[in-house]
Amino acid sequence: MDATLRIFSGSAHPELARAICRHVGIPLGRSYTHRFSNENLKVKIEENVREKDVFVVQPSCSPVSEGILELLILIDALKSASARRITAVMPYFPYVRSDKKDEPRISITARLMADLIRTAGADRVLTMDLHSPQVQGFFRIPADQLSAVPIICDHLGKRDLSNAVVVAPDAGEAKDAARVAKRLNVSLAVIDKRRFGDDERPRAISLVGDVRGKHAILIDDEIATAGTMVEAVEFVRAQGATKVTVAAVHPVLSGQAPDRLRRAEVDEYVFTDSIPIPKEKMNERITVLSVAQLLAEAIMRIHDGRSVSALFA
Ligand code: R5P
Repeated sequence: MDATLRIFSGSAHPELARAICRHVGIPLGRSYTHRFSNENLKVKIEENVREKDVFVVQPSCSPVSEGILELLILIDALKSASARRITAVMPYFPYVRSDKKDEPRISITARLMADLIRTAGADRVLTMDLHSPQVQGFFRIPADQLSAVPIICDHLGKRDLSNAVVVAPDAGEAKDAARVAKRLNVSLAVIDKRRFGDDERPRAISLVGDVRGKHAILIDDEIATAGTMVEAVEFVRAQGATKVTVAAVHPVLSGQAPDRLRRAEVDEYVFTDSIPIPKEKMNERITVLSVAQLLAEAIMRIHDGRSVSALFA
């Protein structure tokens, strides 16, 4: 790789940034963040980035607000240091579920995030499995959306799937789940889920399809509080599923999620490392698949001006 490509990391997920660098074959860019006692952040780039093609890895994870601010300051610092092009690499995009005005007088905050990233000085965004397709339209700069679903399918494909059915935990996930079912060559079922207000525990109302006596593979873009997933697990078990696998790209695992996942009657959880999972949130049934190689490949293609769409297959 030529010396004009540099990859930096914020504080969110340095392990992922380092893994990406290993695949690209370059060392991680040197920078540091200092948090003052007044909670202000200082970011310093500790190497020359003049005319460099710079990628900044910072998925959204706890502490969310500080991570966003650190990214904006990092981008601004790189811009002021005369980086030629800056790409924000955000496998999990901040506020991605705030993607529509479905109540009066609320902000579409994912759009605000896209605007802030551009205003700070980013030229491009590289992201992964956005919660909904409309979020791609929020960017006024080029944005490439990768998908980790093929990585998850490759993993699931190593299992015996002769009795499996892919289950969408809600109608919103039905299209993506249908793609997974097609890829794995198994049937599809969809749960009708209803959310009441901001309640973090939605209710499964009915099931379209059949899970009785089957291995149910529940798939979602993210697991936040796990309210949706645990309800879906209990529902498919009550409907007669004999084995349950839960797969999700983004393990947000907020609030009660770690305990809920520990208690749920699930045989295997399959997540990616788009977001780091702290040790205290892990359990022995969780398998974490890495998206580092996919991101590295996309970064090298963007750097070389080659097509990224070949990675979408
Ligand atoms: C639903 O709209 C999404 O696909 C996920 O099901 C949702 O984001 C998960 O949230 P939670 O884990 O808090 O139920």
